Amino acid sequence: MSSVPAQAEKMHGMIAGCLLAALLLAVASADHPHDHHDHHDHHDHHDHQHGSKGHDGEHPCHLVSNGNADFGFALYKHLKAKSDAKKNIFFSPLGISSALSVLSKGARGDTHSQLFSSLGYSAFNQSQVDEAYKHLFHMFRHHKGNQELILGNAAAVHQTFNPLKTYMEDIKDYYTAHVFDVDFTKPVDAAAEINKYIARNTGDMIKDQVKDLDPDTVMMLINYIFFKGEWEKPFNGNLTRKMDFHVDESTNVPVDMMMRTGRFDYYFDLDNHSSVIMLPYKGNTSMMIILPSEGKMEHVEGSISKEQILHWHNSLFRM
Ligand SMILES: *[C@@H]1O[C@H](CO)[C@@H](O)[C@H](O)[C@H]1NC(C)=O
Ligand SMILES: *[C@@H]1O[C@H](CO)[C@@H](O)[C@H](O)[C@H]1NC(C)=O
Ligand SMILES: *[C@@H]1O[C@H](CO)[C@@H](O)[C@H](O)[C@H]1NC(C)=O
Ligand SMILES: *[C@@H]1O[C@H](CO)[C@@H](O)[C@H](O)[C@H]1NC(C)=O
Repeated sequence: MSSVPAQAEKMHGMIAGCLLAALLLAVASADHPHDHHDHHDHHDHHDHQHGSKGHDGEHPCHLVSNGNADFGFALYKHLKAKSDAKKNIFFSPLGISSALSVLSKGARGDTHSQLFSSLGYSAFNQSQVDEAYKHLFHMFRHHKGNQELILGNAAAVHQTFNPLKTYMEDIKDYYTAHVFDVDFTKPVDAAAEINKYIARNTGDMIKDQVKDLDPDTVMMLINYIFFKGEWEKPFNGNLTRKMDFHVDESTNVPVDMMMRTGRFDYYFDLDNHSSVIMLPYKGNTSMMIILPSEGKMEHVEGSISKEQILHWHNSLFRM
């Protein structure tokens, strides 16, 4: 339980999926920074927030948290069904929800209502969703502590294409979407420019993100997310060694395993076939790692949901 793969090339997507789900929950819990009475209750807002009016003192970004969490798990299941079983699944549900919200901002009619219902926003109108994201991005910018969390949107627009000016202004205002011109008829140069933009905004951590652009493209929505944190209890690199990571019953991959002995918040969920551990970062962020019991990967992947994560989150205790 104190071994964590440091290098996770062949690791199956569960951990990544949940890491990102945890990020979603972090966002949901940050909605109530002044609520000190009950640490767990603030996550549990799924059955009383579909009204058009918020509760007193409820922050606007609260509005999209439930839809975003459900969308994230639905997308995970969808990606899992379509992907090769041996491949990792790694994505940012919040990044995708926010990029599709930038898209829905410009959509009308059926396209708009389909986007909204997929994103879990059917109970709201576009202005409410816009305000929610504006607040969310504001919170991210004012995020303090020993960690960096950067979530950004951008739009690369073909130089002769002129989208509505109000749209461009709105996505900048509500989604902090930076808009810049490229020449998509020169796809290699356009890709280089877009990649340079993403690299610059993620401390050179995300490079060569786009390639093989279609020369007929008129506009490309870009979303990137970057997190860098320090462990609250750092691992001693001297103890890292190669060990087998079990991808499935028959595949083992040697990876660098970090080691640490210590007390952590942990829960073994017998009925739900999982061990859950939280690794805290400095600040108010933790990585939640879910290890399905042997042979139970499919089962856990099938039942994962925000309710399940909440149940785990509320069941953790210090070992
Ligand atoms: C969106 O919904 C809110 C809350 O019900 C309402 O105040 C606002 O007028 C609506 N905006 C639009 C553009 O329909
Ligand atoms: C790791 O090993 C080096 C060399 O033996 C030593 O100087 C260092 O203090 C060790 N680090 C920790 C955290 O124990
Ligand atoms: C963590 O959260 C607590 C309570 O919500 C707050 O008082 C504290 O300032 C936060 N710490 C950081 C580093 O954000
Ligand atoms: C399994 O998870 C569900 C939530 O999805 C929860 O209601 C149930 O209590 C869990 N079972 C156990 C034994 O923890």
